[in-house]
Order: sequence, then structure tokens, then C-alpha cells
Amino acid sequence: MIRLVPNQSDSIQRAPLVDFTFNGRIISGHMGEAVFTALTRAGVLHLRDAPADGAPRGAFCCMGLCQECVVEIAGNSVESCRQPLSEGLAVLSVTRGKHG
Ligand code: FES
Repeated sequence: MIRLVPNQSDSIQRAPLVDFTFNGRIISGHMGEAVFTALTRAGVLHLRDAPADGAPRGAFCCMGLCQECVVEIAGNSVESCRQPLSEGLAVLSVTRGKHG
């Protein structure tokens, strides 16, 4: 027997929406959530290029271990799955030949 549970999603309180950019595209996400989470929700899965062959790479472990989700923020390479989102953050993909 299946018990239907009332939908409580309207009662979830989320942090306010903020705008940030990914390669110049304006995207909204919730303040403090991982950059990778906001990008994924916006349909952005290709975060960087593999250094060896330029193949598209994206988040894999989502907990700071694999480095597959690395992006560039303020000139630094950071794991987007561990980077909290803030208003106006300018996020760039890491392309082949850049950052190693
Ligand atoms: S997805 Fe593995 S370090 Fe971010």
C-alpha cells in the first residue's frame, strides 16, 4: 500500500536568489548554494575542457575530491562544487591550454 505524503515543498525556505555569470551568461541561483548546483539547475554541465584532448568535463563526485568541476573565479581555479554562490560572482570555464 502506498501512502501519499502531502507536498511540503512550498514550506521550504530557500536563501534569496542572486545573479551571477558563467562565461558572461547571467544565471540565477540561491545565495550560498554551491556554484555547481546553480549551474546544473540552469542546464550548464560542461564546466571545463580536459587538458589532454579538450573533451568536455563536468562535476563527478560533487564533494571536492575529483577536481572535474574546476572553474575560474577571480583568476583562481576553484572547485565549483565547494564554492558558495554570491551576488555578482563572475565564473569562467577552464578551457584547454589555460590553467595547465
Ligand atoms: S565534482 Fe568532484 S571536486 Fe567538484
